[in-house]
Amino acid sequence: MSSKTENMYKDTAAGAGSRAVDEKVLENEENAILSVRDLHTTFHTDSGEVHVVNGVSFNLTRGKILGVVGESGSGKSVTAYSIMQILAENGRVTGGQILYKGEDILKYNKKQMDSFRGEKCSIIFQDPMTSLNPTFTVGWQLREALQLHTGYKTRQAANARAIELLKMVGVNEPESRIKQYPFELSGGMRQRVMIAMALACEPDILIADEPTTALDVTIQAQILELMKDLQKKLGMAIILVTHDLGVIASMCDEVIVMYGGRVCERGTADDIFYRPCHEYTKGLLRSIPSAGNMKKKLIPIGGTPINMLALPEGCAFCPRCANAMKICLTQQPEELEMPDGHFASCWMNVKEAYEEEHNGKAGA
Ligand SMILES: Nc1ncnc2c1ncn2[C@@H]1O[C@H](COP(=O)(O)OP(=O)(O)O)[C@@H](O)[C@H]1O
Ligand code: SF4
Ligand SMILES: [Mg+2]
Repeated sequence: MSSKTENMYKDTAAGAGSRAVDEKVLENEENAILSVRDLHTTFHTDSGEVHVVNGVSFNLTRGKILGVVGESGSGKSVTAYSIMQILAENGRVTGGQILYKGEDILKYNKKQMDSFRGEKCSIIFQDPMTSLNPTFTVGWQLREALQLHTGYKTRQAANARAIELLKMVGVNEPESRIKQYPFELSGGMRQRVMIAMALACEPDILIADEPTTALDVTIQAQILELMKDLQKKLGMAIILVTHDLGVIASMCDEVIVMYGGRVCERGTADDIFYRPCHEYTKGLLRSIPSAGNMKKKLIPIGGTPINMLALPEGCAFCPRCANAMKICLTQQPEELEMPDGHFASCWMNVKEAYEEEHNGKAGA
């Protein structure tokens, strides 16, 4: 960006007293239990290096729910797996920091990382069978997690705690359920058991990766309600990964919108739903039913999702953006503070200043 455009960008987008995102990140870091800073993750494939996470930064505030939303393939799960360090063998974090209570977990040794995964941060997946072992009873698996990572060392104490946990997540008849195998339970029950497993070690952070996508709508609502209740009761922070804006609206305190392995917009749920400032977020909102567009035709985002093997030089969304300008082709938009205090990375926010600089030829 030329320094002239940069100044105009700041003046136009944020008004007087605008702050660069880094300042805000530092300010929010004080309340953050987890700070992800400029994270880069790639996969080595036969076709070359696939750049899946390309400079993601966010703060997870203590006791809050952060939603991570974006279309399939935008790098949401890989961001989550990078935090847990459970990437596929061909994947690796190539840059950035993941600060847990100020410590960079990317520098942890295996023992420290095992303890982070077992005791500080848990993950639940769309498919409970990813976490549950089909060959052991529910009780055996819960006792194992408790005896390994918590103070419930005897079989009797662990068993009593396992029953307590199942009750807490709304599993009926927990005394008999603990003797059952996962395949004997319904999808919704299995999801509850997986949540109980994740909570066994009383983590500070719960990462939920599309936790309700595979469930029918009624069970989905019950599980989300349960997660919200547990979050309030236990005070943990949650990263809720989903492609579903409806889930975000009902659950999240803060939201990041991802596209092409980058954060394109961040703010409160209200910022994202009522005052979107990125063309991709606006496209997502136009593609789902909501109170505001009930009578309008839903418009899916056109074009094909990005090829991570060959990222565009400029804005990742450019090939699909109806409002793209020349500058979008060649320069990545910086993330700047909007007048209401949320952040977006889109040249549209400085369109007027840009057009002025280029004598009204911006859209040409
Ligand atoms: N092991 C892997 N090898 C190569 N590419 C991968 C691997 N895992 C994920 N990817 C690619 O990373 C991109 C983002 O994946 P993901 O984070 O799962 O997206 P989502 O936002 O749907 O959760 C996808 O294009 C996917 O093909
Ligand atoms: S930066 Fe340009 S291409 Fe990207 S979303 Fe904004 S207007 Fe569209
Ligand atoms: Mg995913």
